[in-house]
Amino acid sequence: MSRGSLMILRRTGRAMLAPVLVLAMAATAPLAAQSTRADSVARGRTIFQSLCRQCHSVTPPAQGAPPMAAIARRYVRVTGSRDSAESRIAAWLSAPDSSRSLLPAPERRRYGVMPHQPLADAGRFAVAAYVVQLGDSMARRAPRP
Ligand code: HEC
Repeated sequence: MSRGSLMILRRTGRAMLAPVLVLAMAATAPLAAQSTRADSVARGRTIFQSLCRQCHSVTPPAQGAPPMAAIARRYVRVTGSRDSAESRIAAWLSAPDSSRSLLPAPERRRYGVMPHQPLADAGRFAVAAYVVQLGDSMARRAPRP
């Protein structure tokens, strides 16, 4: 390679660095959002174990309340998206009331209305995010016919 072309390579190399840096910085933003979400789901898992698990099993058989993975799948199906399912679950937790229920009426009659759980907003959304993921795990194990 000639000296001249080496110089060009160096120059273009430096010029290329700026856009690459900008791209690298842009890529860390969704990464940060992802880890915040992972933190939230992990927190949701802890809340689920300490507060919800006493009534809700994850998968059938039920133990006094509908299994949580089944609830999650129903919420995603009825609301049409995971995000809406999460919001509806968080809303349900702020005030469990049969008028907000997305379960079929016979199911509600069978179990009776869920008692209110003491949770702040962040906790409600964290546990809702975890619960929606539980629905995914059940879907993988037992695909719906
Ligand atoms: C004391 C028992 C009990 C605890 C604790 C409990 N639940 Fe429930 N949950 C129920 C019962 C019973 C139902 C079914 C009747 C109903 O929907 O109200 C239910 C239903 C639900 C539903 C479906 C609501 C609907 O009707 O659409 C969601 C979502 C839910 N629970 C989430 C949670 C979460 C998350 C927690 C923990 C923060 C939790 N539950 C803690 C008893 C409980």
